[in-house]
Amino acid sequence: MKRMLVTGGAGFIGSNFIQYILDNQQDVVLLVNLDLLTYAGNLENLKTVESDPRYVFVHGDVRDRDLVRDLFGRYDFDTVVHFAAESHVDRSIVEPEIFLTTNIIGTQTLLDAAKAHWKIHPEDKYSRAFRPGVKYLQVSTDEVYGALGRTGMFTEDTPLSPNSPYSASKAGADLMVRAYHETYGLPVNITRCSNNYGPYQFPEKLIPLIIHNALKEKPLPVYGDGMQIRDWLHVKDHCSAITTVLEKGGVGEVYNIGGNNERANLEIVRLILKELGKPESLITHVKDRPGHDRRYAIDNTKITAELGWKPAYTFGRGMAETIRWYLENPEWVEHVTSGAYQTYYQKMYGNR
Ligand SMILES: NC(=O)c1ccc[n+]([C@@H]2O[C@H](COP(=O)([O-])OP(=O)(O)OC[C@H]3O[C@@H](n4cnc5c(N)ncnc54)[C@H](O)[C@@H]3O)[C@@H](O)[C@H]2O)c1
Repeated sequence: MKRMLVTGGAGFIGSNFIQYILDNQQDVVLLVNLDLLTYAGNLENLKTVESDPRYVFVHGDVRDRDLVRDLFGRYDFDTVVHFAAESHVDRSIVEPEIFLTTNIIGTQTLLDAAKAHWKIHPEDKYSRAFRPGVKYLQVSTDEVYGALGRTGMFTEDTPLSPNSPYSASKAGADLMVRAYHETYGLPVNITRCSNNYGPYQFPEKLIPLIIHNALKEKPLPVYGDGMQIRDWLHVKDHCSAITTVLEKGGVGEVYNIGGNNERANLEIVRLILKELGKPESLITHVKDRPGHDRRYAIDNTKITAELGWKPAYTFGRGMAETIRWYLENPEWVEHVTSGAYQTYYQKMYGNR
């Protein structure tokens, strides 16, 4: 019987994760979603779980120490899955500070609350008698490793070498999680996943942006030559990997998550145009992002060999389903692009 705190559950991956857990994990008897509802948080992503008696939404900030401590006291969590973050690289280039406070201080606030509530002592670390039945999982990214050349892959032992304020803040948070394990013996895992795609992704990110613009026959902005390579994973495969690490991951271990799916950005854009029957003349090359990492690729040997996880989606099936989802949910897209989703909270929870 698990009592789970999920942060950032109104975002893209967090909302897919909450649906995944409530659909598949009957041993989760309580799931509290703590989310600040920034521009990236959208409660319309969670319509399907609103009436589930195991689900509770809390509108609040992971940096709010009193709130986070009170939530631990009220709900007695044994599991924390920390998604909440400022997550967009372009925004981090313009406004780095909020990335530091949300991504690093927010993480440390949760770590402190978990450590206090679970009564963790440094002796646990020395005796390796970690508190059983509790776990803190930090959702991180492959971007903390920096960029690769033409060959090679990121393993869990690749040194951290972040290049953007976003990835530097995620790396800082990872190091804090590691420190709470090494210093106090907090039972933690860190997962580092490659680029996700799938339903409910905010249309500032590549795939939904291209689908959205292509449908409206607007220009499709492609950074530089478009040959930046990313390793794509369907969001549901990310969710199943996190669940696997929660259940079987060794205490204190880091796990890379990826689907061996390297694609150049331009290749993705062409694929979407082909699926939608739109012309390649919509492609517009724009000035490259400063510090734009050239290539990411994940070596997923550890999670596949040691924990037995493997992705369920092929890239072809995942992309076809994703494009169909955006076509079949024009209302969701319209609400996100017009900003109307931001009134949903008021409508649902305003008078409670
Ligand atoms: N999107 C990807 O491809 C990808 C890949 C690997 C790892 N990640 C990581 O996964 C996590 C989720 O990514 P995403 O793409 O779903 O992000 P997202 O931007 O879609 O969602 C972030 C969520 O966090 C919430 N949030 C922001 N600041 C908060 C705060 N101070 N307190 C409480 N909630 C707050 C937002 O309201 C939003 O709901 C992030 O930690 C990100 O670094 C993302």
